[in-house]
Amino acid sequence: MSNETGLVTTSQDNGILRIGIQRPDKLNALTLAMYDALTAALESAEQDKQVRVILLHGTESCFTSGNDLSDFAKNPPAGENSPVFRFLRAINQAKKPLIAMVRGPAVGIGTTLLLHCDLVYCDETARFRLPFVNLGLCPEAASSYLLPKLVGHLKASELLLLGEAIGAEAAAKLGLVNQVLPHDDLLKQVLAKAEKLAAQPPVSVRLTKSLLKENQAQQVAEVMSKEGNLFLQQLSKPEAQEAISAFVQGRKADFSQFF
Ligand code: COA
Repeated sequence: MSNETGLVTTSQDNGILRIGIQRPDKLNALTLAMYDALTAALESAEQDKQVRVILLHGTESCFTSGNDLSDFAKNPPAGENSPVFRFLRAINQAKKPLIAMVRGPAVGIGTTLLLHCDLVYCDETARFRLPFVNLGLCPEAASSYLLPKLVGHLKASELLLLGEAIGAEAAAKLGLVNQVLPHDDLLKQVLAKAEKLAAQPPVSVRLTKSLLKENQAQQVAEVMSKEGNLFLQQLSKPEAQEAISAFVQGRKADFSQFF
């Protein structure tokens, strides 16, 4: 099944709901309609007794290049009910276990959403990048809180301030992914994990997930909201305008005039 844009697909089998981001010509960059479709899929999964595990994936060679940068220019998020923030809340509040399978680039929200997943697997082509500062923006998805907790302050600063990409092995070492699996075997092995999880007692699975997240839930919600407001402010400022125009025009951004 696919949503009306055809860019987010869902399929269900054996208690596993697969949600696919499928916009390969733009490296699965996420538009407003795609966030809405992802949120709808997550929300309906919560209500569906047949769904025990949610598996989020991209295409063969790309997870997602993050928010569609042209959309940032044409349809910037307007407030906390914007599709991107609704999606982030849905992923943070999901009660059923979420597995992410990453191949190729996972940029911006493509990496920060992983901080809300319960299991993350990737192949050797996976590349993770958080270019928020490079874009004149600031972290989102509570990543300014969750990332240093996971990888330590220095590494989080490196990833967020420099915005350099890291590969699969480095991500596994940092604890951003559970395991790096061979490309040709990735789907099979991830489905085996998903099936194993779907066969576990569901109440116990949900209870355990909730206990694992409970202690930081309030903090995560607060930071996510604070970051969201700052992100929106930054988006309209000259630094972000310069960065986004530079991407759209295919040139290097120049921040030398800003103080
Ligand atoms: N938004 C909109 N379009 C995007 C995009 C994005 N986030 N990422 C890639 N695309 C588009 C490109 O414009 C290009 O479209 P075109 O063929 O019509 O010109 C196409 O996808 C392929 O991208 P390209 O940059 O040529 O691929 P690459 O393999 O050389 O580079 C990336 C891959 C991911 C490193 C690069 O595309 C990139 O940096 N994208 C922007 C990522 C980003 O900043 N995301 C926002 C985070 S908040």
